[in-house]
Amino acid sequence: MSGHDHHHAEEQAEDFFEPQSWEERYSGADKVWSGDPNPQLVAEASRLTPGTALDIGCGEGGDVIWLAQQGWQATGADFSAKGLARAAKHAEEAGIADRTDWWQVDARTFAADGRSFDLVTTHFLHPPDGGMVEVTRRLAEAVAPGGHLLVVGHAPSEVFFTQLSDSHRRAMFLAEDLLSALPRDFEVLVVEQRPRTTTRDGVTVEIDDSTLLARRTP
Ligand SMILES: C[S@@+](CC[C@H](N)C(=O)[O-])C[C@H]1O[C@@H](n2cnc3c(N)ncnc32)[C@H](O)[C@@H]1O
Repeated sequence: MSGHDHHHAEEQAEDFFEPQSWEERYSGADKVWSGDPNPQLVAEASRLTPGTALDIGCGEGGDVIWLAQQGWQATGADFSAKGLARAAKHAEEAGIADRTDWWQVDARTFAADGRSFDLVTTHFLHPPDGGMVEVTRRLAEAVAPGGHLLVVGHAPSEVFFTQLSDSHRRAMFLAEDLLSALPRDFEVLVVEQRPRTTTRDGVTVEIDDSTLLARRTP
């Protein structure tokens, strides 16, 4: 790739992280995501007593709907209005609309504003350039005393390194990269990369879910 092309590709890659790019993705005819809940959410939230939950970067709402089905009062947040509209429609179709609500917000500037939740969760948000530390700090503020914070994302991997732009690579993180974002009154329960098999463009690949689970002292 020439220097010019590389620069152009980088600009496009950076757009990838902005709301407009997600609005376009959620404007197509097809679902972008499977609607199935993410495996680390199922693994961890299944052990918790349902209460109030916030899922940031909820996309089409698969995790929010699963949480509501488990008895949580679940709020889905995303910066894409179209993603949230799809999520609300899916919640309606699943018959759990009364246990869900929706919040259009950018995780990079998000403020809990006095609201707190028994579970704050986020999957594959990936703000560019190491922004996940700041996002995690903001999300931690929204956790109620005795509540949990679950942050999951892609670990840098060979698979991604060959396919992705520089800004995508910088958006990946390890669970331990986020530890500095936790206030002192959090106890770390899980900080690890969990291997998982998934299918991408019809090919089965091994990826690692960077998984941080922490609990705020009651
Ligand atoms: C890769 S998708 C993951 C969706 C869902 N969590 C899942 O695992 O299926 C990332 C989602 O985060 C949203 N998003 C990305 N950056 C965001 C930000 N800064 N603030 C709020 N939402 C964001 C996108 O609109 C998109 O819906």
